[in-house]
Amino acid sequence: MDTLTDLAIDIRGLRKSYRTLRGGQRIAVDSLDLQVPQGGVHGFLGPNGSGKTTTIKMLLGLVRPDRGSMSVLGHPVPDRLPQVIARIGAVVERPRFFPNFSGRLNLELAADAGGLPRARVDRVLDQVGLLARAKDPYRTYSLGMQQRLAVASTLLKDPELLIFDEPTNGLDPAGIHEVRETIRNLGREGRTVLVSSHLLSEVEQMADTVSIIGKGRLLTSGSVVELLGARASRMRIRVDDSTRAAQLLVQNGLQVVPDGTALLVESAGDPARITRLLADEGLYLRELVSVRRDLEAVYLELTDGEGLSPDQGPGIELPPLSRTIASRTTAKES
Ligand SMILES: Nc1ncnc2c1ncn2[C@@H]1O[C@H](COP(=O)(O)OP(=O)(O)OP(=O)(O)O)[C@@H](O)[C@H]1O
Ligand SMILES: [Mg+2]
Repeated sequence: MDTLTDLAIDIRGLRKSYRTLRGGQRIAVDSLDLQVPQGGVHGFLGPNGSGKTTTIKMLLGLVRPDRGSMSVLGHPVPDRLPQVIARIGAVVERPRFFPNFSGRLNLELAADAGGLPRARVDRVLDQVGLLARAKDPYRTYSLGMQQRLAVASTLLKDPELLIFDEPTNGLDPAGIHEVRETIRNLGREGRTVLVSSHLLSEVEQMADTVSIIGKGRLLTSGSVVELLGARASRMRIRVDDSTRAAQLLVQNGLQVVPDGTALLVESAGDPARITRLLADEGLYLRELVSVRRDLEAVYLELTDGEGLSPDQGPGIELPPLSRTIASRTTAKES
């Protein structure tokens, strides 16, 4: 994504504060930068209260920002929203459907209201896997099916960009799986999907790229694979003489940390190099394992361990943005 036109969403310096009941100010979104490339699923990850919904609402013109700039599909928003809204599908709040009407009829009414052909209804029902239940009343749908019907209704206008705010909230594992599959398929079709979540595992499983926010600010972003450290990999090695091995590796420009009786080698690169360096000095490896960071470790570190805590609101000083995940250390074996 080297030019602006490659970005489905480009947010710069976005800020939104709310008045608190005591007449104070709560900064929900603070100098937020967010770039979403075109095509594929982009996870928008942050703990509860970190500003995900507020950001999405600003993108959709539902909340007015204090300052900053946003553009969606190359158009500045909210000013040009009328020109792009037809190319955007979004599910932000729990959608409202008529409980006694079938899923199909609900979508036909939505198509009518949007001036879209009813002929698309069965196509989108099929896309979300609801065709077989299309005749059933909405009230008989499970939560996962209700959520998929919401996704289907956004697909009626065949949008290039889809925005889903925590679409799997409140669903059981089967429902989560269904919605996740639906979203992944949309990304594979070449659409851009921005999907917010406070759940790591979810983003890890459905997103190609991710932005992690905390307290209204961007903490890091990149491809999921990159963030998981597939590139800058670490290795755990075990040799009889750890001290000598550590000295040798450090002399050769590698970063080494002790890990019990083993050694962790940061940004280890090609394992053959480590093997050769050590063997040349008569140090033979008893073990060499590549260590993978999982997104949860990255997330907890970046959000200062508040990943699972309830809303605390912003206001505490943030870690500098330069605190990249590459320099952090919790590890998990792959
Ligand atoms: N209408 C509002 N009035 C006042 N404060 C608000 C309002 N909406 C959100 N906030 C505050 O702004 C902050 C960010 O909220 P937001 O809903 O954007 O977070 P979120 O990341 O979507 O959280 P969650 O994961 O819980 O959905 C929170 O501190 C929240 O209390
Ligand atoms: Mg939210």
